[in-house]
Amino acid sequence: MTTAVAPAPTPYGSLPTNSPQALRRPVSLPRLAQMRERGEKISVLTAYDATFAAVVDAAGVDCILVGDSLGMVCQGLSTTVGVTLEAMRHHTDAVARGLRRANGSTWLISDLPFGTYQESKEQALRNATVLMQAGAHMIKIEGGGWTAEVVHFLVERGIPVCAHLGLTPQTVHALGGYRVQGREDHAAQVMREQAKALEDAGASMLVLEMVPHALATELTNELKHCHTIGIGAGNGTAGQVLVLHDMLGINLGKNPKFVRNFMEGAASVPDAIAAYVRAVKDGSFPDNAVHAW
Ligand code: KIV
Repeated sequence: MTTAVAPAPTPYGSLPTNSPQALRRPVSLPRLAQMRERGEKISVLTAYDATFAAVVDAAGVDCILVGDSLGMVCQGLSTTVGVTLEAMRHHTDAVARGLRRANGSTWLISDLPFGTYQESKEQALRNATVLMQAGAHMIKIEGGGWTAEVVHFLVERGIPVCAHLGLTPQTVHALGGYRVQGREDHAAQVMREQAKALEDAGASMLVLEMVPHALATELTNELKHCHTIGIGAGNGTAGQVLVLHDMLGINLGKNPKFVRNFMEGAASVPDAIAAYVRAVKDGSFPDNAVHAW
């Protein structure tokens, strides 16, 4: 029988002991596939530091994403374009350390930031290695088309990859703003082809951001080995992701329509995160009447 390991006390307090979660089996690619097979939704949430990593893990979230949204959330940038590899390494390292100290079992995904994988597949491998060595289990890259070759190169070399289509915030200037993607027939068809190419290249996860519900559901049904994780893509995807600060209602700007503030009705931050996990698992979040297009 596995026993929970108490976190080491520090002069600044202890990270949470993840009581039931410390007994969870670590989340892995085979476990994510099993969840998908039995129709269990995958819960994903961002985190950027050790304490929140432990709190998110203790709440039973399946995957933590160290998103380059940290540029906005932690660094006060107006877009993710200015986020550096060193910033991603720093926060990935902190989150991984928090998970280790709390005896966590959550799968850890880290974003390759803008300009660190576009040049060549060798550049992508070099920079993905930095994040993997900081403790990531999987790296995420944005975009379709040319990225399939990069995905294939990384996956062949033992780096699990999460792709990202729809609204890709690193290319917000090219897209003309934070808008729903894939509404028109041609754009939807391009997304179908890109999603299939990414799955064929070996991507085992695909974030679909601000994509119409019907298209996201269709892609989910089409992709067998690549699990779709929606954000503003309705409730037909294999899982859901939100930015931690958005779902806690502490976004400095205005929350997008697809976000629910889980602090409403919650007694504490851990309660709010646990409510998010429950709502993803039982399918009550997102509510297509409120959060989808
Ligand atoms: O950077 C991020 O947090 C993300 C999610 C919003 C999917 O990419």
